[in-house]
Amino acid sequence: MANGGLSAIMQEFKGERGDLIPILQRAQDLDGYLCPAAIRDISRWLKVSENEIYGVATFYAQFRFHPPGQHHIKVCLGTACHVKGGEQILVMAKQRLGVDTGETTADGKYDLDRVACLGCCALAPVVAFDDKIHSQMSVLKIQRLLDEQEQD
Ligand code: FES
Repeated sequence: MANGGLSAIMQEFKGERGDLIPILQRAQDLDGYLCPAAIRDISRWLKVSENEIYGVATFYAQFRFHPPGQHHIKVCLGTACHVKGGEQILVMAKQRLGVDTGETTADGKYDLDRVACLGCCALAPVVAFDDKIHSQMSVLKIQRLLDEQEQD
């Protein structure tokens, strides 16, 4: 039986296959990720196999299958940030954290993602650390930012 929050969400839909993506989005908003129990409940309700749901959900970068980390790092790779070295910043962040994009560090401290544009291209290259935008970033600056976090 779905938990209360998920049950309430499902009541808002008709229970048709076409409801799958919006329900997954709402379920993720609820828990911060798609937990196995939510996938199972949605599968039963929509009469779509869990395998099929995983297949659909993994196609979209927006869905996560692990609990979110404490901090969210988003490296912008939109055009303005890309031409100013966003890719190298992302490579460094991956190396330092030992994760790929869309993953969470083993200690649960950081999520790493790439984004298409953070809406502040004049400050490129840009990295968002939680809700704070860090402008004119560089490989050195991302290392420093992570160093500072480790000291806290
Ligand atoms: S491209 Fe990075 S903020 Fe717009």
